[in-house]
Amino acid sequence: MENPYLPYPVRIDDIEVATEDKSLKTFTFVFVNPEDEEKFAYKAGQFAELSIPGVGEIPIGIASSPVEKGFVKFTVFRTGVVTTHLHNMKKGDLMGIRGPLGNWYPWDKLENKNVVIIGGGFAFTTLRSSIVYMLDPANRKKFKNIDVVYGARSPGMLLYREELFDWEKRDDINMHITVDGTDDPDWKYHTGFVPQVVEDNAPVADEDTYAIVCGPPIMIKFTQPALTKLGYQPHQIIMSLENRMKCGIGMCGRCNIGKELVCKDGPVFTLEEINQTPKEY
Ligand SMILES: Cc1cc2nc3c(=O)[nH]c(=O)nc-3n(C[C@H](O)[C@H](O)[C@H](O)COP(=O)(O)OP(=O)(O)OC[C@H]3O[C@@H](n4cnc5c(N)ncnc54)[C@H](O)[C@@H]3O)c2cc1C
Ligand code: FES
Repeated sequence: MENPYLPYPVRIDDIEVATEDKSLKTFTFVFVNPEDEEKFAYKAGQFAELSIPGVGEIPIGIASSPVEKGFVKFTVFRTGVVTTHLHNMKKGDLMGIRGPLGNWYPWDKLENKNVVIIGGGFAFTTLRSSIVYMLDPANRKKFKNIDVVYGARSPGMLLYREELFDWEKRDDINMHITVDGTDDPDWKYHTGFVPQVVEDNAPVADEDTYAIVCGPPIMIKFTQPALTKLGYQPHQIIMSLENRMKCGIGMCGRCNIGKELVCKDGPVFTLEEINQTPKEY
């Protein structure tokens, strides 16, 4: 049996400063052993453990999409020991990736449905993966209407800006970009918090419409009632949870909510499933 704690060796191929305040960087990795890329086959919504020898290992959502070949991407917020170390690394440096881990957005169930993607802050990473997946020419016809509501604190904090504005120009996806506030007189998108933009702009739900929500807990808390007002039932609201994780494979027990292990049974759950767990979440 293969050791589930053993990471694949990867090389940093590119580092892009992702936000104006430089607190987020997007790292592109290539596998040192090309055959490992196939073993790392992932679906949009999954995460991985990034490891730096002698420093530590952290769970991070996969920002690249399964339809993008030859590399994997992660966008990382500099917050503590491991992420600061990662931010100081250079192109060409070696490190490890373990995964893919966790479940994914339910792509089979979402086929032939309207999909509304709702994201806030840097939790948008796995949503980027999902959007790129759905917009891929081989996949776009599998989905009906696609709406995206994405909010950041300010224009300079929006991730993947060039792609966002490219998607905005397309007629097969409805983008609703918002910022909490801005001094920019030329800002032509929304201003205001994500839940309000959802309430004002997201499509009213019929039985063929599903919402995928990923963001900070406060955004999720207020987005739920906005979606309920629009007619979304708990089984139509799909969320990705972040809980204190360590091993990512159901061994350490650190990430449990009741009897569910977020790393293994999730991180993707419907609101219907979450409503059945203890009130701690
Ligand atoms: C499923 C999932 C997906 C995530 N995706 C992203 C992402 O795309 N981009 C991003 O920037 N961040 C993401 N995070 C959060 C990221 O894992 C933490 O910010 C990171 O672990 C902090 O590590 P640190 O050593 O720099 O911080 P420190 O505060 O120094 O943390 C020390 C140790 O505490 C643990 N720890 C701290 N915070 C967390 C946490 N939230 N989850 C698990 N362990 C933690 C780690 O073991 C870490 O080594 C995700 C977390 C989860 C659970
Ligand atoms: S992170 Fe170890 S059991 Fe979930």
